[in-house]
Amino acid sequence: MADTEIKKGLAGVVADETAVSKVNPDTNSLLYRGYPVQELAATQSFEAVAYLLWHGELPTEDQLAEFERLERSLRPLDDRTLALLDTMPTQAHPMDIVRTVVSQLGTFDDTLHRAGGWTDPELDTGRSVYLFAQLPTVVAAVQRRRRGLDPISPRDDLDYARNFLWMTFGEEPDPVVVDAFNRSMILYAEHSFNASTFTARVIASTTADLYSAVTGAIGALKGPLHGGANEAVMYLFDEIGDASRVKGWLDAALAEKRKIMGFGHRVYKRGDSRVPTMKGALDTLVAHYDRQDIADLYDALESEFVERKGIYPNLDYPSGPAYHLIGFDTEIFTPLFIAARVTGWTAHIMEQQASNALIRPLSAYSGADERHIPGYVPDTAEV
Ligand code: SDX
Repeated sequence: MADTEIKKGLAGVVADETAVSKVNPDTNSLLYRGYPVQELAATQSFEAVAYLLWHGELPTEDQLAEFERLERSLRPLDDRTLALLDTMPTQAHPMDIVRTVVSQLGTFDDTLHRAGGWTDPELDTGRSVYLFAQLPTVVAAVQRRRRGLDPISPRDDLDYARNFLWMTFGEEPDPVVVDAFNRSMILYAEHSFNASTFTARVIASTTADLYSAVTGAIGALKGPLHGGANEAVMYLFDEIGDASRVKGWLDAALAEKRKIMGFGHRVYKRGDSRVPTMKGALDTLVAHYDRQDIADLYDALESEFVERKGIYPNLDYPSGPAYHLIGFDTEIFTPLFIAARVTGWTAHIMEQQASNALIRPLSAYSGADERHIPGYVPDTAEV
């Protein structure tokens, strides 16, 4: 094979086309089915954006009402899921617990046994809504279990964001917090062929089922170079302490060649289109909880690192402190990302199956030259 240029990490490779979202680093923009994400975050519920990602259009009033009724009916956990949660170590990483639960949810789905049931688009639309509705109840139960608290049952009189916060904290959430949380879920929902979405598409391309593809995507999202970064940002903040220690901390971190979590992006090189909107949500939470210290640390690290390395924050940088202020455990930040991104993952899984080709790239061999076992004599049948 002629010398083939290897694109490590598939950087810059266009692997397929998609109609779900458009990430444009030149204009620093992100469109979900043609709508700028900033407009969706400012005007829509996360339920409406989920509907848009799956169906390609924003729902009418009647369609949204019907979707909300269905989603709310699917929130309660099966007793077998609650029993499974109790078998897992309380301090196991929530990403591992949620990944395991999603895998179990697939075993409850007897429509998988129907001929063609693994890739039926109508069944997959229903499965997508099911996971969308179940994940907040799972994530809230995992956080409460870590704190030795019983799970709180979902309420069908609350919208997605309010119910998520109710199940986690057991009190009616403040509208400021609800709005910031709703915006974060919309911003996290979808981002074209990121590592976890591409993982889901690879699994879907083999015509495996949606639960297998989502389970694989959760595994990919866990890594700190991807979804795990929002959790890692908070560890950085804890390590630095306050704004006055940023310069010294960064001297040491860069001397050790550390990756500064929450900064940089494979596609955006002059800043992540979602950051201004999420930073605005963080600012409202800083004011609401009176935590200017967090804002000062955030600003000090951003200005110092951008000045020294010219590498800009990504969505995980404002999201981490925002989730911390709302009261989520740090290890719960990436499961929140799962609950949001399950909409993008499932939209891509259905798109892959609608126009599928098995995803199987080539590799350039760099191993030992051909060699043989001493004394081996092939029998005539093999020759
Ligand atoms: C997400 O793809 C998506 O869309 C993902 C996502 C989504 O919505 O799905 O946007 C969500 O995953 C955001 C990214 C979260 N990850 C982090 O915050 C982890 C820290 N970031 C880096 O690991 C890095 O920026 C990546 C992995 C995100 C992107 O890196 P690239 O494009 O592979 O580039 P690179 O790692 O080769 O970096 C190029 C140079 C290197 O310097 P040299 O080795 O060439 O001297 O820039 C440096 C890197 O060391 N660099 C960093 C850095 N990011 C890049 N140096 C320190 N800290 C960083 N954060």
